[in-house]
Amino acid sequence: MTMKGEHQSQRSTTTAALAVAICTFFCAHVPIANAFSPSSRAPAVSSTLPMPLISASCKPAAYLSSVYEYRRDATALQSTATDTSAASSTSVPRLPSSAIEDLSAKGYAIIPNFLPPDLVAVLNADVSSLRSGSKFNVARIGQDATNKLNTDIRVAETCFVGRTKLQDCPDAAREILYDALDGVRNDLSGNSVLDDKSSSTGELIKAAPALDSTLSELLYAYYPQGGFYRRHRDAISGSASVLRSYSLLLYLNENWTPEDEGQLRMHFDSGGDFLPEGEGPNYIDVEPRGGTLVLFKSDQVPHEVLDTKAQRLAVVGWYNRAVSAADIGELASNEDKMRAGMLLAAAGLVTVGLVSLLT
Ligand code: OGA
Ligand code: MN
Repeated sequence: MTMKGEHQSQRSTTTAALAVAICTFFCAHVPIANAFSPSSRAPAVSSTLPMPLISASCKPAAYLSSVYEYRRDATALQSTATDTSAASSTSVPRLPSSAIEDLSAKGYAIIPNFLPPDLVAVLNADVSSLRSGSKFNVARIGQDATNKLNTDIRVAETCFVGRTKLQDCPDAAREILYDALDGVRNDLSGNSVLDDKSSSTGELIKAAPALDSTLSELLYAYYPQGGFYRRHRDAISGSASVLRSYSLLLYLNENWTPEDEGQLRMHFDSGGDFLPEGEGPNYIDVEPRGGTLVLFKSDQVPHEVLDTKAQRLAVVGWYNRAVSAADIGELASNEDKMRAGMLLAAAGLVTVGLVSLLT
């Protein structure tokens, strides 16, 4: 953290660092934000595959035919699902209202069978083909540019996904996943059920955040047999991850059994990355069964992935709230200038006016 006095003297360095970060974002396409924004939404599922765009390395022939079958079915389903009520939208899963109530009351919600098994199967196949096409990288930890590799904390591989990502490896099922997760974001964004209210007086403490569609982050996570992710938090004040409002985990493990382990453990003690000394553990374990969606408030629920005895697949994501004026000061003064710059750039906030605010 930067002290107040230091902040004054470092203003121009901050601006320079932000400028470098913004340039880096646009030049290098560092996968950080804009993961599945509706503004860049691809057309709804169409009946023909854009074959020339598909690189041979990421889509084996057998896979292509299975996706084609799925796409045909999805097209049929989508063309009949014109209204968006839960009952009729069979192709794009929707959040039940009980999930919002759980999230409000407990800070988390577990929605088994959010994805139907056929969609889980094709997403699972997508992960396999992306892995064999070398699209996954060994996962790193950390919220900032240092992004260290630390195999004491995490053993997994990840692949950033989103409407603007993996354009050389298009996939119909992935588009439906984006539609479903955009729907979840819409249901959460500014939802008054999620307002922070005083439990005694019912008085509003803090309104539920409006979520910025351009700042969603989304990735596939693959844990090999023996993989894990030790206790951590997804949103940490003093870093750009503070914008993360809701974390999402969506499991793709088709035939998970208790012997496979690798459960998600959510902690409810008063600690952050560690159980406070003298306090007893207080947690729940979630089975990572295919189709199960887990949502939680990113700053409230420390969590971990227990050692998995079988390969384990998840979609991991964060819905970020819109950047406020207060955040701009905080982001510009912290150590994580690269990520801050990228987030601000992605949020479309980098205008002459705004940058001069930071100088
Ligand atoms: C994460 C995470 C949990 C999981 O990637 O931040 O907590 O179940 N993943 O994969
Ligand atoms: Mn996490």
